[in-house]
Amino acid sequence: MHRSSNDEHPPVEPYRIKVVEAIRLLGREERERALVRAGFNAFNLLSEEVYIDLLTDSGTSAMSDRQWAGLMVGDESYAGSRNYIRFDATVRGLTGFPYIVPAHQGRAAEHLLFTLMARPGQVVPNNMHFDTTRSHVQRVGAKPVDLPIPEAYDCSDPHPFKGNVDTRRLADLLDGSPGKVPLVMMTLTNNTGGGQPASLENVREVSRLAHDHGIPLYLDMCRWAENAYFIRTREPGMAERSVREIGRMVFDLADGATMSAKKDGLVNIGGFVATRDAKLAARLKEELIIYEGFPTYGGLARRDLEAMAIGLEEAADERYLEHRTGQVRFLADLLTGWGIPIMNPPGGHGIYLDVRRFFPHLEARRLPGQALVVELYREGGVRTVEVGAIMFGDGNEVSDEGLELVRLAIPRRVYTESHLRYVAETVRRVWERRASVGGFRIVEAPEHMRHFTARFAPEAA
Ligand code: F0G
Repeated sequence: MHRSSNDEHPPVEPYRIKVVEAIRLLGREERERALVRAGFNAFNLLSEEVYIDLLTDSGTSAMSDRQWAGLMVGDESYAGSRNYIRFDATVRGLTGFPYIVPAHQGRAAEHLLFTLMARPGQVVPNNMHFDTTRSHVQRVGAKPVDLPIPEAYDCSDPHPFKGNVDTRRLADLLDGSPGKVPLVMMTLTNNTGGGQPASLENVREVSRLAHDHGIPLYLDMCRWAENAYFIRTREPGMAERSVREIGRMVFDLADGATMSAKKDGLVNIGGFVATRDAKLAARLKEELIIYEGFPTYGGLARRDLEAMAIGLEEAADERYLEHRTGQVRFLADLLTGWGIPIMNPPGGHGIYLDVRRFFPHLEARRLPGQALVVELYREGGVRTVEVGAIMFGDGNEVSDEGLELVRLAIPRRVYTESHLRYVAETVRRVWERRASVGGFRIVEAPEHMRHFTARFAPEAA
């Protein structure tokens, strides 16, 4: 059934715009040339070749006037900067974790944590590892194991907490691997599984299982505020609690966290590791000094710590989160109203198109996700990212198992309703000619993290 969406709108923006940045749609021929030059990999496109950039929600937020003002009070002392003092107090206040180690972004935090916590032959369970997390676990010789609930792999299942861990499988893994699990991780929200939240109840159960086995629980808290907002709006009995309060209830169940503040820290760069373990904190700081910098700046300018402290507070604002998740839901409603298949329910930071149902005529080895990324750019200059066989595989291998998605990540506080309508129309135009879209092949790919740098070609070429 076609549903008219003209009378529907996302919530009104809880901000007004003070600074603007011009964007321009290149002509069709220029876009074709850009695709060829980029080896049909959207990561190789120049930002000026992109009209609406939905490649990532990471580090692409618009900062507030308060954050920009914060940059101006940067105290760029090497040691003991007042911005660090504020940052440290803010993160401790928000999370309750007593030891905070700043790092320049999420993967730097992962580097520090896994270098110290995991060893060869060990196993790290998670709902689903993000690609950098997976690589850091593998780099130290340990094995990342994804244990999502089965509903996570079914795009049409409306389960409200598809980011949950399958606690039965976790219990089996913990019982069957004594001494082999150095920590349990949970990614909030589950980015590779569609930006899906985990419930407070599930975090509680995972925490209990881990602690019963004497194992610490660490959170990948990149999108902690979006996860908390979903707990508030979807989990029974939580509606009256604030996002900050719910966030704290989640953190109280864990022993520490890694954070990319490029997401729910509303900054363009920044992150940290947090822990309750004083000994680990001391060792983290030693590693930090070698790889990132002195513990009172951690690879960042001190002004960045100030902006991060302010951003972490702003990300917990319910009106902001209502608008943000409302934008994602608005785009989802437009698309599903036209019968376009997406991961349901829509997640916290973007729409994930269900590629198998979008291009049923393209089997996995024809790289349908890549084909869709290319078509969305070709059609409307919209840049997206494949979250499927290419992102999850290494070298030249292509698996037809697991999720095959294309993510339309919505940067925070950046685009308006008319941008989203334009994106929806672009997807619709590709949808209408979907049967005539062909596949791709890999021309060259590195052994690891290939989606960033691989080059592709249309399969006939
Ligand atoms: N964990 C999750 C769940 C992530 O989504 C990311 C980054 C990281 C860790 C690493 O953080 O980029 O600051 O080093 N995700 C980005 C994305 C790149 O597009 O989803 P980082």
